Amino acid sequence: MSTNQLDKKSQAWSALFSEPMSELVKRYTASVFFDKRLWKADIQGSLAHADMLAAQGLISADDLAAIQKGMAQITAEIESGQFEWKLDLEDVHLNIEARLTQLVGDAGKRLHTGRSRNDQVATDVRLWLRGEIDEIGVLLTELQKALVDVAEQNADVILPGFTHLQVAQPVAFGHHLLAYVEMFARDAERMIDLRKRVNRLPLGSAALAGTSYPLDRERVARTLGFEAVCQNSLDGVSDRDFAIEFTAAASLLMVHVSRLSEELILWMSQSFGFIDLADRFCTGSSIMPQKKNPDVPELARGKTGRVVGHVMGLITLMKGQPLAYNKDNQEDKEPLFDTVDTLKDTLRIFAEMAAGITVKPEAMERAAKKGYATATDLADYLVKKGLPFRDAHEVVAHAVKDAIAAGADLSELPLDKLKAYNPAIEQDVYEVLSLRGSLNARNILGGTAPEQVRAQVARHRARLG
Ligand code: ARG
Repeated sequence: MSTNQLDKKSQAWSALFSEPMSELVKRYTASVFFDKRLWKADIQGSLAHADMLAAQGLISADDLAAIQKGMAQITAEIESGQFEWKLDLEDVHLNIEARLTQLVGDAGKRLHTGRSRNDQVATDVRLWLRGEIDEIGVLLTELQKALVDVAEQNADVILPGFTHLQVAQPVAFGHHLLAYVEMFARDAERMIDLRKRVNRLPLGSAALAGTSYPLDRERVARTLGFEAVCQNSLDGVSDRDFAIEFTAAASLLMVHVSRLSEELILWMSQSFGFIDLADRFCTGSSIMPQKKNPDVPELARGKTGRVVGHVMGLITLMKGQPLAYNKDNQEDKEPLFDTVDTLKDTLRIFAEMAAGITVKPEAMERAAKKGYATATDLADYLVKKGLPFRDAHEVVAHAVKDAIAAGADLSELPLDKLKAYNPAIEQDVYEVLSLRGSLNARNILGGTAPEQVRAQVARHRARLG
């Protein structure tokens, strides 16, 4: 297409077309209003391509210089908000190319040698996503560090651990928080792993079959920092696995955020009263003056739905597509953009919110005392005195039943009463029945004893830097 033709693309793609696109079809098929976000990657990719074309003698050094100059001006125009994005030019690629040609003439028209928008867009999305993954990695580290700090401050604070949301055994609040650090550490690992598959270069695949020009794809890969070149042109232009993988990893990350949110919301409720969130993360009610609502974790729990939805959107986008590129793929961008935006905001806000949690140790401990949380400890005590575990389990079940009837905790039963369940029970049982005794006893790798929590804090600190 000549400059003129590019400008009038909507009227006719080429001599082949005999009627212009309707306004509705133009709007329906255009992507510029969302994909202009890729402009930096688009220019970066074009410059690397032009540099290689010149090195291969496919364009002149003068053409390369003109393209570089034109792209510098376009960069300035976009950054200053002066660039005029045109719906008529459909997408970010055609908008930038048309402006380049307007600025530098024939050199601009030579840029597209050996390239198609199909490999161009795939390259742009990968370049852009790679940068976002790196930023997400930093934010994930910040969130983990914030949680590790709170965990350290609460290595000795006891709250009830639940299974089936029934009081199970006492755990350290620090231990509980470090469970989330484990989850976020795996999320970070997943991001690092999938980044390798994002970081491959499609450019050179051209429209679908490769190109007859002697392009140096390895050179372009090196210039752009890609660690590999896509090895099959059909796959190169049509592969969006990397986007699906990313949104899948992002969904799992959001699921972890959502589980933490659910706990924060429960813990802040009057029935639990375990924590308070700083006012700046909450809102009030327009009708109930006493209310302080945990809006931020509630919204994060809600936003998890939209990110999980984006995986469904992207994976469904791919399922019926024959090779190679199809316009369907233009639909990959908005879910990806929204996933990245949601994730980054959520990670930022959670790192800040974690640092502002007020812990209420008395309320936590009171709750831990309610549900016979040390019953397992009594069974273990009897096992250590020689009883088979199943028998010990049965003995303790009787003791708990009687304690419930008496409205007392196991630790409140007098020794002669306890001895009636088994003569092996002695004075030292009271240490075992205490919350702190129970906690300290779990001094095993991965256990909740404060000593272990502190060891894990140190390990995470060393890992997170
Ligand atoms: N805007 C398009 C996309 O996002 C660019 C590629 C268009 N290629 C084509 N042959 N129509 O996928």
